[in-house]
Amino acid sequence: MKNHRMSLWTPILEIDGKRYQRICRSEEVLSSRARAAQLETGEEIAIFRLASGECKAFSNMCLHLKLPVLADGMVDLDRNTVTCPLHGWCYSLENGAVQGGGNARLQEFAVVEQDGWIFVQLPEDTFELPEWLR
Ligand code: FES
Repeated sequence: MKNHRMSLWTPILEIDGKRYQRICRSEEVLSSRARAAQLETGEEIAIFRLASGECKAFSNMCLHLKLPVLADGMVDLDRNTVTCPLHGWCYSLENGAVQGGGNARLQEFAVVEQDGWIFVQLPEDTFELPEWLR
């Protein structure tokens, strides 16, 4: 049984100790149109809905020029890909891999849909106290 907890004051959902930011209503992410958003931790993300109905979230930054444009890219639901609108780099919407790009891939963020809302997992807090403060 998973531990779900919703904050009363901020749009954050906690599941098993992981934090998910509420982004938008489910119906706002259509298979024909991706959605751009920014996480409270600063990452620019693009959310896509695959033909299966599953939502996937990746960094919105095209790896070519590090510009936040992938939410405006051309989605091919038959191949589950998005093509950057600027110079045509193509990414898998299953795992973020650059098609024909070796090991390069977009950062992926876990998505939860609950009660008609889309939540995206925030990156782990990697801040560590300096040793002299521990
Ligand atoms: S900026 Fe995306 S392919 Fe060039």
